[in-house]
Amino acid sequence: MSFFRQHVFFCVNQREADETCCANHGARRVRDYAKQRLKDLGIHREGEVRINMAGCMGRCEEGPVIVIYPEGIWYTYVDEEDVDEIIDEHILKGRVVERLRI
Ligand code: FES
Repeated sequence: MSFFRQHVFFCVNQREADETCCANHGARRVRDYAKQRLKDLGIHREGEVRINMAGCMGRCEEGPVIVIYPEGIWYTYVDEEDVDEIIDEHILKGRVVERLRI
């Protein structure tokens, strides 16, 4: 059995202000929000889900991006509402959110 059921990697890579990168789309703020939400749900722990920061994952133009393993499903998002939907549907119910998938 895996130590964590799922890993959610948030790219938080930061470049110059006028360059494309996930951090310039609020990635750090939204990552902090997602981590707190999972803590509030009681599932940010061993045997459940882990939110991790990641450097550039090579899909900057499609960002901000996250990837969830072991499924290998990639998403983009605009704000906390989108991440709530990913948590509610994908993490909690196992249903891929097609409208945010990349
Ligand atoms: S900066 Fe996020 S994927 Fe490259």
